[in-house]
Amino acid sequence: MPLIVWDESYSVNVHLIDGQHKKLFDLANEYQTALTNGKSHDALKQLLDGLLNYAAIHFGTEERYFTQFGYDDMEAHKREHKIFNAKVSDIIKKRKIGEEVGQNEVTKFLKIWLEGHIKGTDHKYIELFNKNGLR
Ligand SMILES: [Fe+2]
Repeated sequence: MPLIVWDESYSVNVHLIDGQHKKLFDLANEYQTALTNGKSHDALKQLLDGLLNYAAIHFGTEERYFTQFGYDDMEAHKREHKIFNAKVSDIIKKRKIGEEVGQNEVTKFLKIWLEGHIKGTDHKYIELFNKNGLR
């Protein structure tokens, strides 16, 4: 079973960003599948790196629009993005030095963060983005 499945309740009513969220879900699911299938340490590292890199691209997209549209909640929103980056970077670092990282710790974080952030925090910018012509 996939870790997280995109449906309309996640939609932010902007095609580009919905697409990026779907891709993040794919990457998180791929990571979980790799864990379940007992993939190598290196393979898992590559997936985590890929997830972190793609998240950076996605956060960059949202944050560029925040600046462009003068979003009031920008700083609080960016702080949440930083928490994601810090957590995933920390997991990557721990694994690199051979520290134990609970498998559930990673997937649970990804699921809870993605769900909470998109449905809670991202949904707050929908009106502003749509008002500025983004669809
Ligand atoms: Fe966001």
